[in-house]
Amino acid sequence: MEKKKIKKIGILTSGGDAPGMNAAIRAAVRTCAHFGIEAVGILEGYDGLINGEFITMGPRDVKHIINQGGTILKSARSKEFRTEEGRKKATVQCKKNQIDALVTIGGDGTFTGAKVFFEEYGIPFIGVPGTIDNDIFGTDFTIGFDTANNTAVEAIDKIRDTATSHNRLFFVEVMGRDAGFIALNAGIASGALGIMIPEKKDSIDDLFELFEKAKRSGKTSNIIVVAEGDELGSVYDLAKVTKMKYPEYDIKVAVLGHIQRGGTPTCADRVLASRLGYGAILGLIHGKTNVMAGVQSNKLVYTKIEEAIKKHNEIDKELLELIEILSI
Ligand code: F6P
Repeated sequence: MEKKKIKKIGILTSGGDAPGMNAAIRAAVRTCAHFGIEAVGILEGYDGLINGEFITMGPRDVKHIINQGGTILKSARSKEFRTEEGRKKATVQCKKNQIDALVTIGGDGTFTGAKVFFEEYGIPFIGVPGTIDNDIFGTDFTIGFDTANNTAVEAIDKIRDTATSHNRLFFVEVMGRDAGFIALNAGIASGALGIMIPEKKDSIDDLFELFEKAKRSGKTSNIIVVAEGDELGSVYDLAKVTKMKYPEYDIKVAVLGHIQRGGTPTCADRVLASRLGYGAILGLIHGKTNVMAGVQSNKLVYTKIEEAIKKHNEIDKELLELIEILSI
């Protein structure tokens, strides 16, 4: 059967927002314009697909957004799209509005939705990895990760100043429900004594050993960066058990939270998002579907969506060793 020529592409952002999503939308819209394809923005993720909240987008509609955090299309985690009924409504909207294919910008939940929708109704799609967590297989970096790292490092640098002045120990929580990439990178870049991440199963004794090491080195203030998904406990739990063991320590907790999700995207995120938004449209034009566009070893690549969803980027063991050596 001959492949249907793609004339109209719907673009949506779904799941947790990430700085650089706007740059990806801009790139997708402008690449569509370049190839004479109509671009349609779908508002509020899959909810907008179900409810037919569509806006036609041309190159001027995406002006001056490359430097903006968040997503002009808004994002949501649609409960309705997880139901057959919801997806049926969405396919009716696609037919009614002659949407031939989708670009879905988000994380693995976003890709799972698009995959099920494709399996049921055959609407081609390409995923674009947009999440600050960097936990998507098939790309070296996800959109938003670099910006979130920089936000976290800037905040920890400030915490460092006050920690040093008062000889304090700080537990700083960064985002990463299931992944420790931000904690690892921000920890290295801010000179943390140690990091606690879900991928590295630490015991409380491992944590205490870090403090012993710090004492031996003559350190008077310390920072431990903790991913929110660390299994040993929250920053508050860790602070409590540490205080019991070391009552002489002056311990503080800082939760960086959603500031990591916003802000002006870094140059690296803008370039990555531009490449991936362009790559998604190019892929669809060439008949690709059920894949995620990514950048690996500085090359645009496409990974089967099953792999992008199921597999996970591994934490680099060398970086774990590095933080241990450098925090002497
Ligand atoms: O997926 C990115 C992420 O930032 C996670 O690290 C975090 O746990 C989650 O989103 C929080 O998302 P929300 O506040 O939107 O529920």
